[in-house]
Amino acid sequence: MKTGFIGGGNMAEALIKGLTANGFTNILISEPVEIRCSYLKEHYPVTTMSDNITILKSSDTIIIAIKPQNMPALKEQIQGIDCAGKTVISIVAGVKLAALQSMFPSAYIVRVMPNTPALVLEAMSVLTSDTSVPKEILTKAENIFSAIGQVVVLSEDMMDAVTAVSGSGPAFFALFTKCVIEAGAALGLPEDISNTLAIQTMKGTAKLLSSAQKPSELIKMVASPGGTTEAGLKVFEALGLKKTVSEALQSAALRSAELGK
Ligand SMILES: NC(=O)c1ccc[n+]([C@@H]2O[C@H](COP(=O)([O-])OP(=O)(O)OC[C@H]3O[C@@H](n4cnc5c(N)ncnc54)[C@H](OP(=O)(O)O)[C@@H]3O)[C@@H](O)[C@H]2O)c1
Repeated sequence: MKTGFIGGGNMAEALIKGLTANGFTNILISEPVEIRCSYLKEHYPVTTMSDNITILKSSDTIIIAIKPQNMPALKEQIQGIDCAGKTVISIVAGVKLAALQSMFPSAYIVRVMPNTPALVLEAMSVLTSDTSVPKEILTKAENIFSAIGQVVVLSEDMMDAVTAVSGSGPAFFALFTKCVIEAGAALGLPEDISNTLAIQTMKGTAKLLSSAQKPSELIKMVASPGGTTEAGLKVFEALGLKKTVSEALQSAALRSAELGK
């Protein structure tokens, strides 16, 4: 099986890192920047080229990993190429299944929304496809994205909500962490120490939460009545953290819907 990438940027590299570490071979990459091709060839067992048509013709699975603004040029370039029976997986933000189907009319299409932690192989990737896509094709796509983290399959109408939670999420969690670091420094901690304390606490909390402990249980476990945590939690509640988070995510989902039009 040959897996071809159109675009060899950051996200493609994260996937290539995960795939090659998980025993995938026969990876082809089409990338216009020569120095980027040399870098990829130097670091991973892959073949690089600058020719998208060859990638399309010689791969069974094609992963589109370019920016949305480069899609019209790609569409023009590949017009008329027969992709019958091939699997086309797109990670291009905001480009819907219908648009992908019109670009690759006879291919099986899977749309994926990964997120930035893919760069450290801790991605949350959400897959969506048309009901006509056979189960084994979807399983193949799930296997590819499992190489860089967790995978969930949802219907396309969920993608705006997905964008708000896991797509934009890393920036939201990073913002909260930044606030904690700055607040720690304001309390007198050296900035680098505050940084270490906040990040390790976030990492440890994420591990606890992924070991099936519910957020509400963890809060109860840490906050004893009349204690320090409860004092802090009361301020979050009084100042409306829940409403702020809810409105921020609604705004992100709304923007995702606007951009998808
Ligand atoms: N980074 C993330 O965390 C993240 C998360 C979710 C989804 N995504 C989506 O993933 C996609 C890729 O993101 P990225 O961060 O990997 O972008 P990137 O680093 O800019 O990589 C895209 C690469 O594709 C090349 N390219 C452009 N047009 C091409 C064409 N027609 N044929 C072949 N290669 C072409 C670009 O070259 P030039 O530099 O010369 O244009 C660039 O090297 C985007 O749609 C993005 O929205 C990214």
